[in-house]
Order: sequence, then structure tokens, then C-alpha cells
Amino acid sequence: MPFLLPSPSLRAMWNTVALRSLGRLSPNAASPPLPRLQTLKNRVLERKSRDLHRGKQPAHILQDQGLERTRDVLPCRLGSNKAKYRRWAKTYPVLDGRILSVYRHVFEENLRNSEAVIKRYSELLETVSKGGGENAILRHTQRNKKLFVRERLKLLLDDESFLELSPLAGLNMPYGDVPAAGCLTGIGKICGVWCVFMANDATVKGGTIYPIGVKKQLRAQEIAMQNRLLSVYLVDSGGAFLPLQSELFPDKSHGGRVFYNEAIMSAMRIPQVAVVCGSCVAGGAYVPTMAEETVIIDKIGTLFLAGPPLVKAATGEYVSPEDLGGAKLHSEVSGCSDHFASSEKEAYECIRNAISTLNYDPLPEEVIEHDSPLYSSEELLGLAPQDYRCTLPVKLILSRLMDGSRFQEFKANYGTTLVTGFGHMEGHLVGIVANNGELSHDASLKGSHFVQLCSQRSIPILFLQNTAPHTAEPTSISQAEAHSNRLKAQASMMAAVACAAVPKITIVIGGCYGSESYVMCGRSFSPNFLFLWPNARVALVDSRHFSTVPQAGDNDCTRDESELKHLKEKLEEESSAFYSSARLWDDGVILPQNTRKVIAQCLEILEQQKYQVISPCQYPVIRM
Ligand code: COA
Repeated sequence: MPFLLPSPSLRAMWNTVALRSLGRLSPNAASPPLPRLQTLKNRVLERKSRDLHRGKQPAHILQDQGLERTRDVLPCRLGSNKAKYRRWAKTYPVLDGRILSVYRHVFEENLRNSEAVIKRYSELLETVSKGGGENAILRHTQRNKKLFVRERLKLLLDDESFLELSPLAGLNMPYGDVPAAGCLTGIGKICGVWCVFMANDATVKGGTIYPIGVKKQLRAQEIAMQNRLLSVYLVDSGGAFLPLQSELFPDKSHGGRVFYNEAIMSAMRIPQVAVVCGSCVAGGAYVPTMAEETVIIDKIGTLFLAGPPLVKAATGEYVSPEDLGGAKLHSEVSGCSDHFASSEKEAYECIRNAISTLNYDPLPEEVIEHDSPLYSSEELLGLAPQDYRCTLPVKLILSRLMDGSRFQEFKANYGTTLVTGFGHMEGHLVGIVANNGELSHDASLKGSHFVQLCSQRSIPILFLQNTAPHTAEPTSISQAEAHSNRLKAQASMMAAVACAAVPKITIVIGGCYGSESYVMCGRSFSPNFLFLWPNARVALVDSRHFSTVPQAGDNDCTRDESELKHLKEKLEEESSAFYSSARLWDDGVILPQNTRKVIAQCLEILEQQKYQVISPCQYPVIRM
């Protein structure tokens, strides 16, 4: 549907109303007297209000991406976070995080389980950090004279503290191990601006794209769109992994979607830049060509739809990669690249300069001095439930995450199996929705109310998810009625969560079971970020509660036994956090003791949108 621009008089009225609602004008002010010397905040406010009435994203596009809910999501009140924090944060009540002796036994069991799963997690990360293995790295660095992808990131990013997304993706897939899905993605700062990066790892089968690699790139682009983050592609890829072409090429969410997204993102004013730092063959060639600005590296970067072997097969003629699609050719003749770099170092310097020309307002460098929690984050390992039945009160976890262990609880004595309230995470105000038992009728109503409060007040929501694996079957009419009421209340909360126009972060701290996981903003409810603790279980049902094989269909007990064992083992494996992360059902596994840091980083990343000028643009930048 076309978006109609309001008339100038309507626009002026909108501006006034918008500015009033932004708290910059007194209600009686006739016209907005804009100061001559504008501060950064005023400029952003002015531009933001101007953009509100006409700066709509192409609505059909956002709808298509399921992103329209978070369009104008962030608070328009741009008061200093520092001042707000100073004034309010220290008045919230302090949580009692002491672990009572009655909990000690469960705590110890959880701790042992956490240590075991973290050991496995470290082993997997170690495997992933080696990309395609030592030989492939040697071939890549010695023979092909290229930098390993992690070295490239060091040159690209301001510092090494980037948030890597889904590093375990691609492990143990039906088609084998694809370390990091053959492509590193994450969010890091370049020139002070948070950016999403997507970098092929050519040590993994020449950087070719597997189905899981496509999924990973699409997720990174989704994050860029949802959070309005500019994107950098480091392209070093042999294109599609041909043996799996049928899972890569034809469908809507296959390879071509990456290029489609590039155009849409550009039209949404999300800039994208690329470095051709290796081979860009076939489909891979479109990534840099569709980027708004591209650098190609001499003797290393090549870009063509069909490489020299194919030319030889078709024409019998030998042509060198350089002559067919090298840096000189694309910088001087074809125009597929905009900058020529004689080395990798020069290329990353060039792309950093390109980013500095995007005219972005970086986040203000105000450091909010915040209090640390009063209790050790290491103790979260004993609070991470190995099983739903080993769950301890969630406020013990909150007391190890929130600034100063302070928490302004909402409806503390009602629907207590869900804990809701406000607190700060490294100075960022956040609304908390945390499971503390089964999601009862009252708990769901409270959740709906609280989620709407956050949405109304433009406060990001953090869901701490630990949902129950099963619900007891009703044994009476009154129980069945109670179940129906609960279902209705949960449906209301689902609607509230789906429609809350604020950023959402979900951390699965224990169970992610069945339909309650949707209510707690599971993956299908599009949280901006979703991470798992390594102890997390993700499944429709808990296999450990099975005593018979559902619908086994015969009375042969021996067969039942072995079938049950087999089914339990299968479900057990498929429920693990690592299985989930390998398939990109989340944005990665994080350690409990790092949770506060990761959440604070996400909140800072989300904040960047506040300082952006979002002006209307229906068309992408088109390469000429
Ligand atoms: N599909 C499946 N596997 C591929 C592949 C592809 N498109 N391209 C490369 N590979 C595999 C190779 O078979 C090799 O596997 P191995 O390690 O098990 O032997 C591995 O990737 C590395 O390839 P190699 O050629 O040894 O590395 P390289 O660094 O010298 O060159 C490329 C990498 C990508 C430049 C080169 O392999 C190439 O040009 N591949 C063809 C790309 C192509 O035509 N793609 C069309 C996609 S539609």
C-alpha cells in the first residue's frame, strides 16, 4: 500500500505534537522555537520528529520481514541516561541473594552439571576456532597469502570485544561438521559505531556456502534490519556448496534472499559495505556487487560468475583469475568495485574510512557508573538448573545480574510463578519477565500487564526463560476449567509479547519447553536477541519423563523397551543447547557468568538506534 505524505500544515501540526510528546515543548508553546545552536540531542529530536510522519520504512517490506512491530521502538525521550540512573537506580529495593542451606543440595547438583556442560562447550568452541583445520589454514595463509578470518576481524574492528553470534552453528549437521557454518557473524564497533559483520571463512571448503551458512547470514541480516545496524561483508567464498545445491538455491529463504535483503536494507537506509578479500564466485559475486561501497584487494580478491576452469571448459581458452575478474579489472573496467587496495591492511583501513563517511552519530561517550551485583556471578553455575525440577527461586539469579542487586518488583505477591519488575544492567534500564515456576493463569495475566507497561514506557524487556516440560493432565472438570482459563491467559500474554513495540532479549536459563516457551518470547516471537545457557534444554517434551513409547502400537514388551530407549536417547540429544545452537534456533550459547555483560552489550547496541537519523528512502543505492 503506498504511503501518503501528509500536507505541509498537517506536517507542521505533527511536528509540534511530536515535539511536545518528546518533552521538548511546553504544552502551551505555539510554535517550536528551535535554538540556533543545536546540541546533538536536539538535532536528533528534531530530525526524529520530522521523520516520524514521513520516514516510514516501506511497510510491505517490514511486514514481510515480520519486523514492523519494532519500527519506531525506542524511546523518543532522549534525556541523559546518566542523570536518570543517578536519580533512580539506587532507590530500588535490594534483593536477598543468599543461598539458604535448604537449597545447598540442589545448588551442588546444578554446579556439577554446569561444569560438565561448560567443559563440552569449551571443547566445541576450541574446534570451531580452528576453522577448516590446520592444513586448510596453512593453505589459506601460506599458499593463498590471505589472513585467517579472525585476524581480519582484528584489523576491521575497533577492539576485540565483539559479540560473536552463533559460533557453534553448523556442528554435527546431517552433512557433516561445518565449523561456524563457514561464516563468522557478530556485532562489533567500527569507528565507534556498532556494526554487524559477516565474514566467510575460506578454510572451510573454500568458504563455500552450506544451507546452514545461508541461514546464518540471513539471521545476521535480520539482526541488522531489526536493530538498524550497518553491515560489513568480508567476502571470500567459492559460492554455493554444489553437492547441496537443491537446499541452497530455489526456495524463498535460500541463497538469493541474501541479495534481496541487501537491496531492502539499503532502501531502509541501513548501509552495507564489503571487502572482496578472496574468491567471490557465482552467487558470492553478488554480495559485494550489491553492497553500497566495495573494496577489492589486489592479487587476493577476484569476482566472477564463472571461474577460469568453466571458461576453459566452455571456450577452450585459458584466462587467469586476475584477467577474468581481479582487482584491477573491477576497479578500472567493470566498476563492480569502488576502491582498489594493494593489501589486506589497506583494505580494512579503507572500509573503516568508508564507514566514517556514513554520517552516523555514534553513541555518546557517557560512561554510566553503575554498581556491580552484590553476589558473585560464578554462583550462577549452581543456579542454572540441570533439570526443571532442580530450579531454585529466580530472584537468586536476578540478584547476580542486576546493578547493585536492586530490583523494583511489580505485583510481588500476585502470580508469583512469574517474576516481573524493573532494574538496571550496567546502567541500562530494563524490564524483567522471569519464570519462577509454571506459568499459571494469574502469572500470565501479570505478565501481559507488565509487558504492556514496558511497551508503553519504551523500556526493553528481558525474558529469563525456564518453562515447564509438561503440565499435569486434568483429573476433574474443575481442573479442566482451570486449564482452559490458563490457556486463555497465556494466549493474552502471547499477544502482548508479540505486539510489544520494544526491543526484547530472551535468555533461556533452563527449560525451553512446549507452548509456554512462546509466551516467554521464544524464537518464533522474534526477540531481537536470544541466547541459551549451556545447561538449557529445548524441546516440546522432556524425554526423561517418558515411561512408555507414545503409540508404540503393539504389546511386544522387548520391542517397547528398546524403542523407548532409542527414542529417549534421540530426544535427549536433540534437546541439548548445543544441538539447538548448531541449527541456529538461537543466537548462541553464553556462559551464565557472562550473561550480565552480554545483556548490557545488547542493550547498548539497541540504544544506537536512538541516535540515528532515520529518513525516508524507498530505493536502495544502485551500482552504476
Ligand atoms: N562446492 C563444493 N566444494 C567446493 C566448491 C564448491 N563450489 N569449491 C571448492 N570446494 C572444495 C574443494 O573441493 C576443496 O575440498 P577438499 O578440501 O575436501 O579437497 C575445498 O573446497 C577447497 O578448495 P580448493 O580449490 O582446494 O581451495 P582454493 O583455496 O585453492 O580455491 C576456490 C578455493 C573456491 C577459489 C576454488 O575451489 C573454486 O574456484 N571453486 C569453484 C567455485 C565455483 O565454481 N562455484 C560455483 C558455485 S555455483
